[in-house]
Amino acid sequence: MAFSTLILAAGAGTRMVSNRAKPVHELLGKPLIRWVIDAAQTAGSERVFTVLGYQREQVIPLVEDTTVVVQEECLGTGHAIMVTRVELEHLASKGASLVVLNADTPLILSDTIRMLAETQQSTGSAVCLLAHNAQNPAGYGRVILGESGQVLRVVEDKDANEEEKRSCLCNSGAYCFDLPLLLESLGKLGNSNAKGEYYLTDVFEYLVKAGESVVACMAEESEAQGINDRRQLALATKLAQERINTEWMLAGVTMLDPSAVWIGADVKIDNDVEILPQTMLSGSTTIGHGSVIGPNTRITDSIIGRDCRIDESILISCELEDGVNCGPRAYLRPGTLMKLGSKAGTHVEIKNSVIGIGSKVPHLSYLGDATVGSDVNIGAGTITCNFDGDKKYKTIIENGAFIGSDTMLVAPVVVGEGATIGAGSTITKEVPAGSLTLERSEQKTIKDWAAKRDRSNRSQKNTSKTEAEKSTKKQE
Ligand code: UD1
Ligand code: MG
Repeated sequence: MAFSTLILAAGAGTRMVSNRAKPVHELLGKPLIRWVIDAAQTAGSERVFTVLGYQREQVIPLVEDTTVVVQEECLGTGHAIMVTRVELEHLASKGASLVVLNADTPLILSDTIRMLAETQQSTGSAVCLLAHNAQNPAGYGRVILGESGQVLRVVEDKDANEEEKRSCLCNSGAYCFDLPLLLESLGKLGNSNAKGEYYLTDVFEYLVKAGESVVACMAEESEAQGINDRRQLALATKLAQERINTEWMLAGVTMLDPSAVWIGADVKIDNDVEILPQTMLSGSTTIGHGSVIGPNTRITDSIIGRDCRIDESILISCELEDGVNCGPRAYLRPGTLMKLGSKAGTHVEIKNSVIGIGSKVPHLSYLGDATVGSDVNIGAGTITCNFDGDKKYKTIIENGAFIGSDTMLVAPVVVGEGATIGAGSTITKEVPAGSLTLERSEQKTIKDWAAKRDRSNRSQKNTSKTEAEKSTKKQE
């Protein structure tokens, strides 16, 4: 079963009321258009074309693995196909099937795309269109059936009469066409309708009238949810969340409250992982067996090993090996690698650094551009001063070093193996292995100071009392 796919993404998306193009809006952390491209590719589409127009400069970086066709003026979904005629004619010479998808219907499944193509090809139909029964059909084109249940045409919401509007059988905006027949019917499209646009959906009536067979497959309503405005974006997010969380729970992931967990489409989770409320996992994140994540945690594009504990933390583009402990309230930024059994504790920020096996950064520290060996203890309040306002510099802390609390490590600097740094030091030079290094002014002690202070206070009070008495007597 061979087919190619064309994704329509050129429209202005006016109903989003946005400065951003509709296809770049995100659903669970992934742009709408990527959901559709990925579904087409997973379904086995040979080639994927995207039709871009309005604000296409925002969309192009997201569709580099597709062939882009530009629709300069958005004159309707039928017109979007017309502008790809040259590319399509080339494909049609091989008698191909073409799946057409809307970029604003992200929840379509790859199995459904395959079913559309299979049905069109096995029935030898001109087109197989995807329909769904909508609880609230407003805005969708309605599929009009004949007496024996055959598809007659699709009427757009704005052009439908009262009776047609009452129908809940909607066009989901996904089709598989016999490509030569699609190209033939494009020439017949006009724009005398409520929107003054060339509707792709008008081709069904032409094909039926030409004696061609037009068939329909049914989709679940959740799969066909179109996104034209922000309410529908929120609705589609909810549907995707339910779908994804259900799959993970059935695959052995515990969720205390699945309505308060948001997992992106490309995240991978092992079984016996527990996800606590207000947790968002997105991008290419993977979570290893037995880890407990959340509550109040956001992890993007990160690899989390087995048996990790991540509590109230934010992690972006980092890697945690097995048994790493993180938070509460740690912030791990891109390029952080936490090795086996290491720890990034409370109010700890780490960027572009390696924390070695079993090393601990338990409290209130910032490590940037640092390489920390194994079994290192970083005391509370340690800071790598890695930036001089112009360039960034590296800090190297070798195995078994002990960094006292409130240490400033002014990079570039190396702390040797097994060295100890006394609390409160500002380290600007290399610390030799095995040494104790202190950098602070010597402590000064004044013995019996409190008693001296009290004596002095008392004598001051007595002097002022005597002076007050003197002045009262004068008045007498
Ligand atoms: C469309 C269908 C409707 C269907 C619904 C399903 C038409 C005429 N109507 O309506 O029957 O029920 O989808 O969600 O097709 N686009 C272009 N170029 C254009 C216009 C639109 O590429 O000139 C793209 C848009 O970017 C969008 C898609 O086509 O991704 C659909 O356009 P949209 O305006 O959202 O159509 P709907 O009103 O949702
Ligand atoms: Mg739409």
